[in-house]
Amino acid sequence: MSTQFAEETLEKSVSFAPVCRSEELEAGWGEALLLDGAQLALFRTESNSFYAASHHCPTTGAKVMARGILGGTMVDGQSVATVACPLHKEVYRLDTGSCLNADSPALQMHELVEVAGQLWLEKTK
Ligand code: FES
Repeated sequence: MSTQFAEETLEKSVSFAPVCRSEELEAGWGEALLLDGAQLALFRTESNSFYAASHHCPTTGAKVMARGILGGTMVDGQSVATVACPLHKEVYRLDTGSCLNADSPALQMHELVEVAGQLWLEKTK
C-alpha cells in the first residue's frame, strides 16, 4: 500500500481522525488530547514509537495518564514500552494496556497510525 493511498483512505475513514504531526510530540513524553469529548493521552517513546491511550487511570479514574512516566521492561524475553501512572505508579504496557505490577484493570488503548509523519487516531465514538 502506498503512503498516498493510505493517507487518502484514512481521510475518507469515519473512524480515524488526524491529530498532529509526529514531530510535534516530544520523545519520552506524553500529551493530553480531547477528541470528540474523550480525554486521551498520546505518547512518543524514546525509540520513536507512538501510542494512544485513555487519559483516565484505570485504577482510580484520575485524568493523569498523559503525565505518566514512560519506560520499558522485558516481558517473556521481549522489550515492552510502558507508562507508569504519575500518582500511584501502576505500570501499564503500551502495546496491550495490561497492568504489570498490580491487579488493576487494563489501560484502555486506542489505535494510532503514522502515515508520512501524520498521526491518525481511531475515534472513540
Ligand atoms: S491514580 Fe493511577 S495508579 Fe493510582
